Amino acid sequence: MYDFIFNPNSTKEEFYEELLVQIQAIVKDQRNWVTNLSNASALIFHGLNTLKFFQEKPVNWSGFYVRDEQDTKTLLLGPFQGKVACTQIKFGRGVCGAAAASKETQVVRNVHEFPGHIVCDSNSLSEIVVPLVHDVTGELLGVLDIDDTCLDAFDQRDKTGLEAVVKILVAGCEWNR
Ligand code: SME
Repeated sequence: MYDFIFNPNSTKEEFYEELLVQIQAIVKDQRNWVTNLSNASALIFHGLNTLKFFQEKPVNWSGFYVRDEQDTKTLLLGPFQGKVACTQIKFGRGVCGAAAASKETQVVRNVHEFPGHIVCDSNSLSEIVVPLVHDVTGELLGVLDIDDTCLDAFDQRDKTGLEAVVKILVAGCEWNR
């Protein structure tokens, strides 16, 4: 098994460097997307919450929505850590739907200020959603969604780090469903 240990005193930059190494370990001998996204959601959830910064501002949800194969403008709940969440999100709806429709990362400092934000856990106050885009076809495969219990938990460093994480996951999984 992998040895997933993070240093609580790391800066966000140092944390994401280490996270990338560990995400690479997850996809090294396994290409199934359910398996890899399950471990990635756990790693991100527990990893972020070991940092001093996030101990003061705990992450309460980390996981994935994947594009529905039949209804291709809809996201379906995928592997995650956190409370029970809504199962379907239309492209363009809420923060996840905005990331899916635009294929752009959404960094939301206060979810209550985001038009159409979908409440899954009322403890969530800030959120980051990163799209998973196929590197060859450019199709939207899904989104990575992370919620935090405090305002303003995520910034450009999280955007850069998580976009790098998602790139490894996209390349490291088979997406046939
Ligand atoms: N808040 C999200 C919905 C998903 S949950 O937070 C897990 C949104 O507005 O898209």
